[in-house]
Amino acid sequence: MCIPPLAAARGGAHDLAGERGSGDVLQATDAEHARRTARVQPGVQSSDEGPGPWAGRGRRGHDGTRPATALYRGHAVLRRGSTSRRAGVIIGGMSTATTTQLSEALGTFAALFDEALAAGEPDRTAMTVATAALDGRPSARTVLLKAWDERGFVFYTHLDGRKGRELQENPYAALLFHWPRVREGVQVRIEGPVVIVSDEEADAYFASRPRGSQIGAWASRQSEELESREVFNRRLEEVEREFEGRDVPRPPRWSGLRVRPERMEFWYGAQYRLHERWLYDCDVAGDCRKRMLYP
Ligand SMILES: Cc1cc2nc3c(=O)[nH]c(=O)nc-3n(C[C@H](O)[C@H](O)[C@H](O)COP(=O)(O)O)c2cc1C
Repeated sequence: MCIPPLAAARGGAHDLAGERGSGDVLQATDAEHARRTARVQPGVQSSDEGPGPWAGRGRRGHDGTRPATALYRGHAVLRRGSTSRRAGVIIGGMSTATTTQLSEALGTFAALFDEALAAGEPDRTAMTVATAALDGRPSARTVLLKAWDERGFVFYTHLDGRKGRELQENPYAALLFHWPRVREGVQVRIEGPVVIVSDEEADAYFASRPRGSQIGAWASRQSEELESREVFNRRLEEVEREFEGRDVPRPPRWSGLRVRPERMEFWYGAQYRLHERWLYDCDVAGDCRKRMLYP
């Protein structure tokens, strides 16, 4: 499928189940960055759906206002209104300045994402996702970006694997894209609260996967100890038998997780390590702003 160049910045959703689109080459200068981002229309709004089945469990969040031990289905960890503004979360009710900055950041992401395709990155959707358990120890692994829009960046996984468990304890994640073939190397860092996508969204994506991957999702107890490869092969055969002649439904504990972009950084590599860094972040008052950082 085609990835529209700047449509995301105007509120379009990007479903990457099929991948591939055209490029849009940019220069790494400040002026060009400003010109590029100026093309982006302000006014993108995030949805604010109701809290899901895990809502309300556990301890308070790092802002001290909401529990952090549960992921919320299709919903920001923090609610709209004064609580969310204090926490600096990008959700409904934000100021025009905030939405403009978010639009601009998403527009930049869209442009770079297209450039990554044009530059021949082996997999522009591959990203590192870092999580941390309640003990504060971080862990990181690669996943694939499957959809993104102004609500956030979505990957799919087992909810009871290590990352899934950590995100239930502490629903905040950091994402990292590295596209070495774009310009002189580009990194995009995205950080924010994590929510579960709706069942409908997860079902639709799961249905688009190859049957072998669907079978694998049922057979894998992600991150648990596996006695031997033979055990796994037996489980695969059992699942295949179970679903023979019919569609494979989505396992209930396999779903999509959406990282809401509270903070996005665009890093452009430059000679002599004189890199260029642009940070979009939201302060405790909920206002987002754009700043340049020393390399
Ligand atoms: C290129 C690449 C893409 C991957 N994509 C995913 C993915 O989308 N979802 C997923 O759960 N694991 C994916 N994996 C496997 C993860 O890196 C990881 O091994 C797995 O999710 C278990 O991580 P955990 O034990 O921290 O939960 C991918 C691995 C690679 C190398």
